[in-house]
Amino acid sequence: MPQTSGAISLDHDTPELARSYDEAGLVQFRHGKFLIGPLAIKSGEHVLDIGTGTGRLAEFVAGLVGPNGQVIGIDPLAGRIEIARLRQSDNLQFHTGRAEDLSRFDDRQFDAVYLNSVFHWIADKSGALREIHRVLKPGGRLGLNVQDPSRPHQSRVLLRQAIAEAGLADHRQDSNPVLGLTDGELRPLFVAGGFTDYRSELRALTDVHADANSLLRWSEASAFGNFLEAFSPAEREQVRSAFARLVETKRTPEGLILERYLRFAFARKASAGN
Ligand SMILES: C[S@@+](CC[C@H](N)C(=O)[O-])C[C@H]1O[C@@H](n2cnc3c(N)ncnc32)[C@H](O)[C@@H]1O
Repeated sequence: MPQTSGAISLDHDTPELARSYDEAGLVQFRHGKFLIGPLAIKSGEHVLDIGTGTGRLAEFVAGLVGPNGQVIGIDPLAGRIEIARLRQSDNLQFHTGRAEDLSRFDDRQFDAVYLNSVFHWIADKSGALREIHRVLKPGGRLGLNVQDPSRPHQSRVLLRQAIAEAGLADHRQDSNPVLGLTDGELRPLFVAGGFTDYRSELRALTDVHADANSLLRWSEASAFGNFLEAFSPAEREQVRSAFARLVETKRTPEGLILERYLRFAFARKASAGN
């Protein structure tokens, strides 16, 4: 069972990457709504957003729970939490923290927990699910989305091609190490974590980018410095220029249109029991 598919570091983020992420954050925000809809979040509920980034989706969910509810967002990257705190309000708070350690929260504190484009980054997935199960109320809902290795994003396919064209297709073939999980890998993780009513579906999402630079900036910001990390600066430039050429095949009058694929998974904690 993959935990992570390579070495991911939380130490490469920079204030600039955090700012770019917030500026381009609408991309994740849009598909985040496909996560929030099925969770059926109601007024007055308590919700935890794990890996909240700069807090845009959490801010939207705070509107759903209203003044009698509460949303808490956590993220290990201090620079992203600093930006998220600009969105803070009476029913919306942010803290630094990781999915694997939710010890700041009580047992059965939340009605719903979600992770939007986060689960594939987490090193100890079983530990994270155990913690999420603990902090959910009986009957509480969990929703998350992950990349699925059986359906790589179009940009990832082009990136691999660019790496090959630059003559660098060795062990660093895919230097962004996050490969994600299939349905067959997710289901047993959820079951072992004590969840019930697991279901998942793969969705195709369409993104529009102005040009290759903005797509690359977006990829760098959303990988918090773990993108093309395995390459030297000169090699990185070679890959970037091969990628810029290849991505032009996706040019339309509206911009570069690329499909991304995410698996959305939902489950809940049993109503009776711990
Ligand atoms: C692509 S961003 C998604 C941010 C946000 N959920 C959104 O919808 O915009 C991935 C986030 O996962 C966070 N992350 C990485 N490892 C994590 C972990 N172990 N626990 C919680 N969050 C983590 C990163 O810090 C980053 O902010």
